[in-house]
Amino acid sequence: MLSQQTIDIIKSTVPVLEQHGVTITKTFYSNMFQKHPELLNYFNRANQARGRQQTALANTVLAAAKYIDNLQAIVPAVMQIAHKHRGLGILPEHYPIVGENLLGAIKEVLGDAATDEIINAWAEAFGVIADVFISIEEDLYKEAEKDGGWRLFKPLKVARKVKENDMVTSFYLVPEDGSTLPDFKAGQYITLRVKVPGDEYTSNRHYTLSQPSNANEFRISVKREDAVDPQGVVSNYLHEGVNEGDLLDVSAPAGLFTLEENSNPVLFVSGGIGVTPLNSMLQAMELGRPVTFIQCARNEKAVAFKEQVSKKIDELNGSYRVLFSDVTGYVTKEDLAPFVKENTEVYVCGPAPFMQTVISIAHDLDLPSENIHFEFFGPAMSLEAA
Ligand code: HEM
Repeated sequence: MLSQQTIDIIKSTVPVLEQHGVTITKTFYSNMFQKHPELLNYFNRANQARGRQQTALANTVLAAAKYIDNLQAIVPAVMQIAHKHRGLGILPEHYPIVGENLLGAIKEVLGDAATDEIINAWAEAFGVIADVFISIEEDLYKEAEKDGGWRLFKPLKVARKVKENDMVTSFYLVPEDGSTLPDFKAGQYITLRVKVPGDEYTSNRHYTLSQPSNANEFRISVKREDAVDPQGVVSNYLHEGVNEGDLLDVSAPAGLFTLEENSNPVLFVSGGIGVTPLNSMLQAMELGRPVTFIQCARNEKAVAFKEQVSKKIDELNGSYRVLFSDVTGYVTKEDLAPFVKENTEVYVCGPAPFMQTVISIAHDLDLPSENIHFEFFGPAMSLEAA
């Protein structure tokens, strides 16, 4: 239990952190990786290069500070991060390293303003926040181990590699030992831990499971990113360097972006490769629930899973629209309005600006927040948004 004095100090430091949050976390990462280079095996260096992770952590620390006397309120948002941490294999012993370096960075950036009282209060608060994460993550590890699953990573064999289009290739992954795979919910992802030749550290990437749960094989569908972008290092390696018969280290399924089980009409709106989790949810649906799929892509060449989506939509008597932004620009209110009823549940996935557009259209069409479900590809930007 934190004392009222500690809570007051934490809350009163929020404005300072808001001002310096990103500088503090940048300093924190640079110091931490200098002292603990082994942690580079966990962090996505492409996200680091773009400053994404810095923003995510800064926002999370601030949100935690605001809710320090009511951490229960942030548990749903912590859950989403905890799923990512669990997929990555983050362990309790990592937290003190993060805590020590975060406090060190606060001291370094704030200088004399960071009094012993403030630093001690933050040390205590970080301990409490870390305990919330560690305990939720331990529950998720236990859950992952159940029913044929596993705790950290398991080598799975690439049974088949199938090209979906010029940019997207599917990988079918099977256990080598003939064991069965755990069940998962459509929309969940697995984390791949790969060692790209020539790279000193491992790289981790999350990929949505792109076909319904099946005890024999997982399927992921990987978009090849531009090779000049550091993000492209892993996707290019998977496309070019990983062949049928090779082994890949894979986490058990994780993630919370899944289809709500009710009978409300569903509107899927995908942008680019964001089609992957939405197609998985669609493929798992049964006849009777009204469904519409709006797939946005830059052009015809960039559309993945068109045949699969179209076939399933026919089976479900739904509607399917493909919109090309090169031709008609971004999706508009007029595109979505005909498919939105009072109780429609919208599922959105794609790049951040696309999602912001669709989410604000859904609000304009008077849908309540609880009917709007979304997943950013990349770190979620704030606890409140999660
Ligand atoms: C991801 C917060 C502790 C490693 C994230 C994300 C947030 C976050 C907000 C982004 C989630 C998303 O992608 O949606 C925190 C907080 C922590 C904490 C508040 C402490 C209380 C740790 C620890 C480690 C760690 C101890 C291990 C050293 C990672 C990694 C990612 C991540 C590797 C994926 C980000 C990437 O690679 O781009 N964390 N985290 N985190 N966290 Fe943590």
